[in-house]
Amino acid sequence: MNYRTNNCGELNISHCGKSVKLCGWVSKIRDKGHLKWIDLRDIHGTTQLVFDRDRTKKNVLNIAKKIGREFVIQISGKVVERISHNKNISTGDIEIIVNEITILNESKNPPFTIEENTDGGDELRLKYRYLDIRRKPIQKNLLFRSEVASMVRKYLISNGFTEIETPFLIKSTPEGARDFIVPSRMNQGKFYALPQSPQTFKQLLMISGMEKYFQIVKCFRDEDLRSDRQPEFTQIDCEMSFVNQKDVMECFEGLLSDLLLEIHGIEKKSFPVISYFDAMNKYGSDKPDIRFGMEIHNIKEYTKNKGFKIFNDSEVVVAITVPKASIWSRKEIDYWIEWVKKPQVGSKGLVWVKNNLDGSVKSSVDKFYDYKNLKKWINECECKKGDLIFVMSGKKNETLIQMGKLRMEIAEKLNLRKAFEFAPLWVVDFPLFFKDDMNNYHPMHHPFTSPKSEHLDLLDEKPNEVHALAYDLVMNGNEIGGGSIRIINTKIQEKIFSVIGLNKKKSKEQFGFLVDALEFGAPPHGGIALGFDRLVAILNGDESIRDYIAFPKNNSGYDVMIKAPSEVDPQQLDDLGILKK
Ligand code: AMO
Repeated sequence: MNYRTNNCGELNISHCGKSVKLCGWVSKIRDKGHLKWIDLRDIHGTTQLVFDRDRTKKNVLNIAKKIGREFVIQISGKVVERISHNKNISTGDIEIIVNEITILNESKNPPFTIEENTDGGDELRLKYRYLDIRRKPIQKNLLFRSEVASMVRKYLISNGFTEIETPFLIKSTPEGARDFIVPSRMNQGKFYALPQSPQTFKQLLMISGMEKYFQIVKCFRDEDLRSDRQPEFTQIDCEMSFVNQKDVMECFEGLLSDLLLEIHGIEKKSFPVISYFDAMNKYGSDKPDIRFGMEIHNIKEYTKNKGFKIFNDSEVVVAITVPKASIWSRKEIDYWIEWVKKPQVGSKGLVWVKNNLDGSVKSSVDKFYDYKNLKKWINECECKKGDLIFVMSGKKNETLIQMGKLRMEIAEKLNLRKAFEFAPLWVVDFPLFFKDDMNNYHPMHHPFTSPKSEHLDLLDEKPNEVHALAYDLVMNGNEIGGGSIRIINTKIQEKIFSVIGLNKKKSKEQFGFLVDALEFGAPPHGGIALGFDRLVAILNGDESIRDYIAFPKNNSGYDVMIKAPSEVDPQQLDDLGILKK
């Protein structure tokens, strides 16, 4: 006998009179003495069951009395029209008069309510994640994730990509984070690293002639966590042979366009392409949200020689226009002045200018700048009557980044970042390296990224001026993907290793296999990886990825459900040859 004839989300008025059998979880019980209703839930929806003294058999009523929330039950009954219809759910026109009931399994009282909006805090929800996943919003997210994965697979396979698995127990692949390492029992004192990405393997597959590779694959990075970062996350990882930067960008623009069209009916073609330097100057970020204006303007030349020392002494003076904010009170402005001073932003403060609706102009630096001066700022910043300008000054890079943070936060507060408006773009022309505080060079992407051929001569003398054949795919202020054309020349590859401080011996030890492989006829190749968790969250109007991952870690990288990481049995350490101090 089948467990059920129908699911809990599909019965409607056309089924009235039909005898059905349903299974599911008890989500709500309402008891009015002579009448009792139970909402029965499964992944497809909720169906109302009704029990009454006149129409329901006594033994069924007796069993129904014993039922509590989250019990798993099976019922048989007849579909009837409800007296008062519920327009909010698909089964809202009907209910089931129950004539048989079986308790398939009992449940303890759940630690939080399993409803659309739960009363469970984050940690509690993670501890009982299997119950959290019973909630509609999380189930919907996971179903959506699965749909997007199948759309991605369909697109890539129809574009000639082959899905190939690469190993998880590998040697370190640098992507800018720390590795998770795994001890080896059979090779005591030696360790595998979990891949930060399959970067080296996908390049090797190109050398093998596989031509177009993809994998929807777990990556592992030991780095500080944020709402858009997990220590293990999923990439749509791809590599292509005989391609240039434009080919890779076109292919993945096609993928994102298809997803936006299929999921939201939104047509996006020819994504804007912006250089890293323009992105930093205009938006103070290499992953700009271009859905709203508020671009950054450099007004240094209009601020000089008016006796305002702070601006005179600064490398840059940058400003943004906040629409319709000239009516902000002193208190509201002070809020933002304090906000930019937070350590996470790190600015010294803000100067403001109000371009009032009545044509008057008022600023916090009226002592130094008259109406005529301020009008120049207003013109430069395309500040309309009724708008307000915020100005920051300091060292170029840090001030732009601080202004970029202010821009995003104000936009968030003013509700200018609309979740279901999508603005994809490419950021290109990145520097190949960045310098840390100790003046050491690091790859901006990873060490296999090709420099622009016209910058090769700069590698020896001015590595900081070398640009990369790299591209990031950005949407709504989030980096959803990054890739590059790769180095296929061993001499250039070795040069890059030496710029980033890997001497011959070290680089041979770490990447000798790749450099060797480059010498066996490596085809020109390039690729990209999209952050799948991020992509799915953003396509669904969210920025936090946690509820798009079935079993995520908390902000300390801890799995509160299975209690991992955890101590291990000393015997295990002994077997591995790791002595506990
Ligand atoms: P990259 O390091 O830019 O490139 O990673 C690609 C994309 O992966 C996502 N991502 C993350 N998502 C969630 N949690 C994390 N901790 C996390 N880290 C990264 C981002 C990012 O854009 N091998 C190269 C790709 C290549 O060159 O082809 C790479 O991994 O959305």
